Amino acid sequence: MILDDIRPKVTEIVSNTNETVQKRLLFICDLLESNITYYNWVGFYFKNGDKDELKLGPYVGEPTDHTIIPFGKGICGQVAVSNENFVVPDVTAQDNYLACSINVKAEIVVPIFIQGENIGQIDIDSSTINPFTETDELFLEFVCAKVSEIL
Ligand code: SME
Repeated sequence: MILDDIRPKVTEIVSNTNETVQKRLLFICDLLESNITYYNWVGFYFKNGDKDELKLGPYVGEPTDHTIIPFGKGICGQVAVSNENFVVPDVTAQDNYLACSINVKAEIVVPIFIQGENIGQIDIDSSTINPFTETDELFLEFVCAKVSEIL
């Protein structure tokens, strides 16, 4: 399925007030993981209260040890402080990286903003090397903007 075809489905899930926010976030993870072949782990991290750390939210894929990530640590922790998308074509080329599984080759993290404040992120791992393009960034920015409407 191409990314533009998935956008209306994201909107549909986000708008479904019969489900809890947590469930809707999980459904988005499932939608992305099951329809985009190179999205092999899809999850959300959110700022953990007042702490300078991220806490794992809903996700689809292998369980990860990284349920809490201090700001600055790994790709996710760097995005928590940079407020910018981070596209990693090859995780072996990164020094500040937290490995979840030996199958992961590439990663993309896109921050979620509420009124300009970085409150979390979507994180995608891929078992394909260098799979992400600007189209993925634009698509995930759309997903994050939609998600921020219900947080
Ligand atoms: N690889 C991430 C850690 C989270 S897992 O990908 C689920 C990182 O370096 O921050």
